[in-house]
Amino acid sequence: MDWNFDEPAPREGTNCTKYDLRKEVFGTGDVIPMWVADMDFNTPDFIVNSLRERVNHEIYGYTFRPAGYYRSIIDWVGLRHSWNIEKEWITFCPGIVPALNFCTLAFTEPGDNIIVQPPVYFPFFSAVLAHGRKLNYNLLKESNGQWVIDYESLVASIDDRTKMIIISNPHNPVGRAWKKEELMHLADICIEKNILVLSDEIHCDLVLPGFNHTVFASLGEKIANNTITCIAPSKTFNLAGLSTSSVIISNPVLRKSFKRIVDNLHIDGGNIFGTTASIAAYTQGHQWLGELMEYLDENVGFVIDYCDKMIPEIIPVRPEATYMIWLDCRQLGMNGKELQNFFVTQAGVGMNEGSTFGPGGEGFMRMNLAAPQKTIIKAMQQIEKAVTTIR
Ligand SMILES: Cc1ncc(COP(=O)(O)O)c(C=O)c1O
Repeated sequence: MDWNFDEPAPREGTNCTKYDLRKEVFGTGDVIPMWVADMDFNTPDFIVNSLRERVNHEIYGYTFRPAGYYRSIIDWVGLRHSWNIEKEWITFCPGIVPALNFCTLAFTEPGDNIIVQPPVYFPFFSAVLAHGRKLNYNLLKESNGQWVIDYESLVASIDDRTKMIIISNPHNPVGRAWKKEELMHLADICIEKNILVLSDEIHCDLVLPGFNHTVFASLGEKIANNTITCIAPSKTFNLAGLSTSSVIISNPVLRKSFKRIVDNLHIDGGNIFGTTASIAAYTQGHQWLGELMEYLDENVGFVIDYCDKMIPEIIPVRPEATYMIWLDCRQLGMNGKELQNFFVTQAGVGMNEGSTFGPGGEGFMRMNLAAPQKTIIKAMQQIEKAVTTIR
């Protein structure tokens, strides 16, 4: 390994959400933070060096994104995801959550229904409800220890006010890297029923060994024409604080509607450092990412093995992508609130409680595994000790 993921990076006192907001979120600062989705690894040196070079220039005035910025995105998705895109298709957005909200505004009307498939990343809900649109839940269903799309209930839930579906591809929190056939099935339904697909692919690069990511819009021209894709280097390279992401739309009519919102809000400027970091990440990040995924896979394997041998009451759902693991804690016999309280006060571990991801999530906890192995080991030992007291 050329990169060292083993050394804990001190993060306290840096206005870091994951560490410095523990007291507000968990009622105590004394928990191992395994919640918000960023990584406890240093940003790789090729990104830091390019940022340093830009800082050294010492003038940070108005700026625009150069051709190399777009080229780096085009090359990255082409090489990693076999997805051929054009520069004009890419619109800058300061974040994917803002992009989801803009899509609601651009493509639907107040009172329209938008489908989400919980348990899912909870800002999907507010991106709908905050704008007077209605949530149409199509719950994922469990099948042999994994989570799958319920196509029957999806079709049944569609009515003439249903305009859009927001998918998490790969899926946070259940960790699915949806298979091509699964996405094809979904695409067929959406085209037949005239439902626009908003595919949030922020986790697309974080695919664990043995699995693949399929870009929804790459499934065919007709499907691409009906799809908005969101990607970012933020999860992959731990750059969430640099607020730089892309919305990729090949259909010129849809793109015009989306761009109108971004332009009217004057948020196209972005920031110099986000541009610099994004170019460095997408042009130099391949090897680092490969090693990161191997490291994360070891963390996943460790947790699965540990639960199997030492805490059989907790059943982890093996993730195919993302650095989250979805822990089935239903055998502990507690509701969501009790589970959160148990893990915080008895185990000293701060995770995301399942019901915050919507219906179907209660009884589960989402654990962030993007941390040095010694942190993961400590957390699992603390959880084991706590569970032992209630056996
Ligand atoms: C599915 C999904 N979308 C979006 C985001 C956040 O996007 P952003 O920080 O760019 O708004 C996350 C963060 O965890 C996520 O899991």
